[in-house]
Amino acid sequence: MILNDPQFVAQMEGWGARFLPEEPLSRHTSLGVGGPADMIEIHRLEALEPVVEGLRGRGIEWRLLGGGTNVLASDEPHRKVCLRLARPERNIEFDGNIVRIAAAADLGRSVMECAKRNLGGMEGLVGVPGSVGGALRMNAGAYGTEIGPLVRSVTVFRGSTGRREALVPHSGISFRYRKSSFAPDDIMLSVTLELKERPFREILDHVKQLNQRRRGSQPLKEKSAGCIFKNPPGLSTGKMIDELEMKGTRVGGAVVSERHANFLVNRYGATASDFFRLMDLIRERVRRAYGVELEEEVIVWKN
Ligand code: EPU
Repeated sequence: MILNDPQFVAQMEGWGARFLPEEPLSRHTSLGVGGPADMIEIHRLEALEPVVEGLRGRGIEWRLLGGGTNVLASDEPHRKVCLRLARPERNIEFDGNIVRIAAAADLGRSVMECAKRNLGGMEGLVGVPGSVGGALRMNAGAYGTEIGPLVRSVTVFRGSTGRREALVPHSGISFRYRKSSFAPDDIMLSVTLELKERPFREILDHVKQLNQRRRGSQPLKEKSAGCIFKNPPGLSTGKMIDELEMKGTRVGGAVVSERHANFLVNRYGATASDFFRLMDLIRERVRRAYGVELEEEVIVWKN
């Protein structure tokens, strides 16, 4: 246990946070791997400031876990404390075609909530697993939609200053392919998006169409973190791995999906180290065959 301070833990409860010592990250990640980390669940956002201040004062490093759908956490006990935002009850507010969503809200559900109000433009994101905050950090995208261009402002808690700030595109935030300008210790609290008015029926038809496409080309029923590597400019990583006939390749319990070669799945009780070894193997084969260096799309947590 890294955070061994009963007084601080008791204080935390009063602020609206809950301490979970040595919580297995495998329980909180879609890949189902990751060793233990001391975890603090933030139930009231006001608890963030004193919790982070308390950790800073004790010289304890921390990081934020969002929906856990794009994180590959190593098997060893983690030294950094892991913060998580609990999902608030009221997590979406509408004002015409402007919508404010809590960062801890589920992305897919939020897309559908907007659809019910006849607001579209983010349909492509409906099948992207994870939280709204995680989608912002990664500038999540699928089927021609990225979340970045829809953003009007983001409220963040800046770990560096311990203060909250409202950021707007161009001056305060920028988005690129699977990348945003947020600092690693920025915690997104809420986002305001500008959507397009579109009839619910139309949005629903589009969503159904995309879901069908996704089901046909991605292993949605297996434990994965989505695509494991980014696509290098102008190239498709899935296609390259497929052409190397690596589908079905297995290291320990980690397997290259037969459905989409850029998805690695946890099929046989894999460990993080199985995934790291399988990724190294793929990287090496792609480097030799195509002269391309693959960059991870997942966020890797090592100590
Ligand atoms: N392909 C193969 N074999 C495979 C997989 C793909 O030949 O095993 C070919 C396809 O036939 C197609 C091309 O590669 O011609 C591209 O495949 P796909 O349309 O599946 O898209 P992708 O580039 O592999 C990207 C995103 C996905 C997103 C889809 C749909 C990245 C790294 N991946 O995949 O995002 O869902 O487009 O828009 O940008 C993610 O970010 O985790 C993710 C899964």
